[in-house]
Amino acid sequence: MTQDELKKAVAEAALEYVESGMIVGVGTGSTANFFIDGLAGMKGKIDGTVASSEASADRLRGHGIEVMDLNQTGDLQLYVDGADESTRHLHLIKGGGGALTREKIVAAASEKFVCIADESKLVDTLGAFPLPVEVIPMARSYVAREIVKLGGQPVLREGFTTDNGNVILDIQNMTILDPVELETALNHITGVVTNGLFARRGANVLLLGTESGVEVLK
Ligand code: 5RP
Repeated sequence: MTQDELKKAVAEAALEYVESGMIVGVGTGSTANFFIDGLAGMKGKIDGTVASSEASADRLRGHGIEVMDLNQTGDLQLYVDGADESTRHLHLIKGGGGALTREKIVAAASEKFVCIADESKLVDTLGAFPLPVEVIPMARSYVAREIVKLGGQPVLREGFTTDNGNVILDIQNMTILDPVELETALNHITGVVTNGLFARRGANVLLLGTESGVEVLK
C-alpha cells in the first residue's frame, strides 16, 4: 500500500469514533484531509466541527460542513488529527504543517484525541522530526538562544507565518528522552506561544496504518 492509502485507511477508521450530534474537532495535514473528506459523507450526522487551522476550515466548508468557534461550542467530545511522530506511549510531535497552537488548543478542549498516522510515524524516541516551536516574531532571536541553552539547534522556518501571525523555529536533531519535561521547559521561555510536543496531553488513541491493517494503540 502507498503512504496515502495507509493515511486514508486510518482516516476512515477514525470515522467510527464519530457519533450522532457531535461537534467534532478536526486537525490539519494530509491525513486529517482524508478524515475531512470522509466526514463529508456523514455530515448530516454531526452538529458541526471546530477546525485547527484556516486550511482545514476551508476544506470543511468546501464540503458544506459547518465550522464553529470553540468559544461557542464549549468542550468537545472528540478530536481527530495526524502527527509527525508518535511513540507507543502516544506522546507526539506535531506542527509539521505549522498549525500546532490551534491543534493544541482543540486537543486540550477535547475529551478524546484520536491520532491518525501511517506506520512511518511510529518511533521509539521523539526528535528525528524537527520539533516546531511557535514564537512571537520580536522574540525570535531571544528564544533561539534559549533553545540552544537547552541543547537544541533551532532553524527558522523561512517564509512561513502561522495562522496566528507568528513564526516557527524548528529544533533539529534533538533526542527527546523526557517529552513532558522538554514540553514544559520550552513553554516557559518568554516569547514562546507553544511547542509541537503533545506529551502532557498526548493522544488517547493512535490508529496506525500498517500493511496488515489498522492497529489500535491506547
Ligand atoms: C500539522 C500537523 C500534522 O498533523 C502533521 O504535520 C502530520 O501531517 P500529515 O498528516 O500531512 O503527515 O501537526 O500542523
